[in-house]
Amino acid sequence: MSTSPTALVVLAAGQGTRMKSDLPKVLHTVAGAPLLHHALRSAASLEPARTVIVVGPGAEGIEAAAQELDADALTVFQEERLGTAHATELARPALAGFEGNVIVLYGDTPFIRPETLEAMIAARAENDVVVLGFEAENPGRYGRLVMAGEMLERIVEFRDATDEERRITFCNSGVICAGSECLFDLIADVGKENAAGEYYLTDIVGLARARGLSVTAVRCDEAETLGVNSRADLATAEAAFQARARDAALEDGVTLRAPETVFFSYDTVIGRDAEVEPNVVFGPGVTIETGARIRAFSHLEGCHVSRGAIVGPFARLRPGAELSENVHVGNFVEIKNAQVDEGAKINHLTYIGDASIGAATNIGAGTITCNYDGVFKHRTEIGARVFIGSDTMLVAPVTIGDGAMTATGSVVTSDVPAGALAIGRAKQANKPGFATKFFERLRALKQYGSKR
Ligand code: UD1
Ligand code: MG
Repeated sequence: MSTSPTALVVLAAGQGTRMKSDLPKVLHTVAGAPLLHHALRSAASLEPARTVIVVGPGAEGIEAAAQELDADALTVFQEERLGTAHATELARPALAGFEGNVIVLYGDTPFIRPETLEAMIAARAENDVVVLGFEAENPGRYGRLVMAGEMLERIVEFRDATDEERRITFCNSGVICAGSECLFDLIADVGKENAAGEYYLTDIVGLARARGLSVTAVRCDEAETLGVNSRADLATAEAAFQARARDAALEDGVTLRAPETVFFSYDTVIGRDAEVEPNVVFGPGVTIETGARIRAFSHLEGCHVSRGAIVGPFARLRPGAELSENVHVGNFVEIKNAQVDEGAKINHLTYIGDASIGAATNIGAGTITCNYDGVFKHRTEIGARVFIGSDTMLVAPVTIGDGAMTATGSVVTSDVPAGALAIGRAKQANKPGFATKFFERLRALKQYGSKR
């Protein structure tokens, strides 16, 4: 494998008019991550020395999204969409002084596998230019790869192809790899004498062959080249991602009762012998340890669930929810930015936000940490072996000591020492016979038709 450094040029200037969206196409998401992130992640294993993204309208959003993944990513603006060669040419100044391989790929093509790009780099060691091709089931309007044995002679765009060329099923994915100097030399010669009147990057293949350079095509599976041009494509891409993620989870030893109803994020991590019941949705940033059980209809994002924990049914774990081993979180419970220690139970109808809960603590039904005063968020610290009575309002900031308890229905506004009972509710008064008389009067009123 070639050891020379790699630079990445991502073409992302497409407005995506068929998306009918105010959002640039490459910022639409699949499995919780922008298309652009998928493309950049595929190339991450090549450890690109430089990354240049060619952007069009909506440039600022794309720049910010790219820098989330790669703080050094550069964006260059393509004002007018003059073709893929023109777009690539715009990256030249950003690659000044770079000596090594350049990989050009598209920001709207999320599924190219890292291994495929590595195979292209490996093929580059023997060839001046490497193109990624695939056997298309339905070649449609893809560019066709005209091969002569192992040598790729040229790429012909559908609009410019003869009937005979259109019968070729080996198609251009759009990913191209060449040495930096060679690539920009070839691009300088690209003209726009074609049906679209565009500067085609694909023309560099014929130009390279005319100079006696060697060009080859690496093959990948058609599924890798799936590009997104419409909302329907986006849905197809999502379905393809989910199908693969479900297979991978099953393969890794995770039990999925109804795989087709479970939705994963691009980065979901689930340990073996974990079980995920039907209709569970994972947002970004979830780690589930071995043996944990995620029950039906739960929604999790940005959280960690340790061994032996049980979540749901109908639970919501939001960013920063950290569940230690054997924690139980039951139905209609929402947890955000909170550490829940070993064996604690929060089983019914509860909101826990900006809190810590000690080991073996029991949180009664209907408990709420009142964490927000309308401007600031405040923390609730609950110790170990605490018993929080049902329907307790914990008005943060507040601390409950180890082994303390709160009476059902309490509004707790000040700290509770360890081992103490806090009662914060109106005292009960019984009025003998009141209810019987009250209802007698109301029923009489109803029967005789007068309201008062
Ligand atoms: C291109 C290829 C075709 C290939 C197909 C695979 C060319 C000339 N043709 O065709 O051989 O089979 O992709 O999907 O390269 N872009 C810019 N600026 C431009 C033009 C395009 O950034 O001026 C970007 C687009 O946003 C897109 C990518 O380059 O991400 C490809 O452009 P597109 O117009 O979709 O090319 P195709 O006609 O699909
Ligand atoms: Mg296209």
